[in-house]
Amino acid sequence: MVVKENASLKSLNTFGLDVVAARYARITSREELYKIKELPKPWFFLGGGSNILFTRDFPGTIIHIDLRGRGIDADNGNDVLVYGMAGENWHEFVRYTLQLDLGGIENLSLIPGNLGTAPVQNIGAYGVEIKDVFHELEAFDTENGEFVKFNAQDCQFDYRQSFFKQKGKGRYIITKVVLKLSRKHKLHTGYGAITSELENMGIHAPDIHDISRAVVRIRMSKLPDPAMLGNCGSFFKNPVVSKEKAESLLKKHPEMPSYPVSDTETKIPAGWLIEQCGWKGKAEGNASMHKQQALVLINLGNASGAELYAHAQRVKQSVKAFFDIQLEEEVNVL
Ligand code: EPU
Repeated sequence: MVVKENASLKSLNTFGLDVVAARYARITSREELYKIKELPKPWFFLGGGSNILFTRDFPGTIIHIDLRGRGIDADNGNDVLVYGMAGENWHEFVRYTLQLDLGGIENLSLIPGNLGTAPVQNIGAYGVEIKDVFHELEAFDTENGEFVKFNAQDCQFDYRQSFFKQKGKGRYIITKVVLKLSRKHKLHTGYGAITSELENMGIHAPDIHDISRAVVRIRMSKLPDPAMLGNCGSFFKNPVVSKEKAESLLKKHPEMPSYPVSDTETKIPAGWLIEQCGWKGKAEGNASMHKQQALVLINLGNASGAELYAHAQRVKQSVKAFFDIQLEEEVNVL
C-alpha cells in the first residue's frame, strides 16, 4: 500500500480542486484492505473523484480504491454475469461490455467515475439506472474486517440513493461489482433526447452500439468535459414534489417539464428551476452553473471548493424563494 503525507488531491477530483489530505493511501489489492485499520482516522474512501466537492483540506486519510480487473463470472448463453473491480473506469467498462456485445448499460455511456462508486449513488441516465442490471457486489466491512456480499435488495437502491449513502455510509468499501447483462438486447430508446439524436444520426433500427454512440453525442454536446472544465455532473437531484404542488406550478408555468413518479408525486427538473431563477451561465468569480445545462456546477478556473459551495447555496436559496422547492445536493460535500 502506497501512503503519502500532505498529498495534493488536485488530480483525484473532477472539480480539479487543489486540496491537501494529511494522508493519502492507495489500495491496489484486496489484501491491503486488512491493513487499513492502522491508518489514522477520519477516513474518506475515494473512487474516481467525480461526485465529491472538497470545501477544505482533509485532516485524515484519503483511502483511494484503485483495484483493477474485469471479466466474466458466469454465462448461460443469454445472460452473462460481468464483473469489474471497483477502480475500473466506468466508461471503459461500458466499452468492454459493448465489445462483448452485451446489452444493459449502453444508455449509461460516458458517465464519469469508477465502477465501485456507481452503485453508491445508483447512477442513471436516459431511462436506465445501474439497479436495473445489478446482480451483486462485494464490499470490505471496515468494522468487522471482512469481505461481505450484497444483492440488489441489500443495496436498497432508489433515485440517486442506496444503503451505502445512508446506513452503510463510511463503513463499507465496495471492491467488486457484478452486473447481469444480456445477449438478447432490450433497447431503451424512449427518452426524448435519444430518439431525436438517433434521428439526427439517420438511424432507424438502432442496436446497443448506436444507442451508446447517441448517448455519447448527447452528453458531449450538453455536459462539460471535466478534463477541460471542472465539474461533477448534476450538482443537485431533481426534486420530487406532491402532485398538487406540481399542478399549481404548471398553472403558472405551463411550459415546465415534469414527470409523474407515482400517483401522488411528480419529479421536476432542477435544471429548469435553476434556469428560471436566472443562474444558467451566470458566473460569480470562478463559479457558475453551466451555460448549456444549469444543473451542472462548474469551476471556471481556480475556484476554491468553498467558493463553489457558496455559489451552489445561493442557487438553492433562489429556487426556494422563487418556487418554494428545496433542492438537495447530489454530490457529496466534504
Ligand atoms: N432543462 C432546462 N434547463 C437546463 C437544463 C435542463 O430547462 O438548463 C430541462 C430540459 O429541457 C429537459 C429537462 O430539464 O426538459 C431535463 O433535462 P435533461 O434531460 O438534461 O436531464 P436532467 O434531469 O437535467 C438527469 C440526470 C443526469 C442525466 C440526465 C439524462 C439527475 C440529477 N441528473 O438530468 O445525470 O444524464 O437526466 O438522463 O437526475 C448526473 O447525475 O451527474 C447526471 C448528469
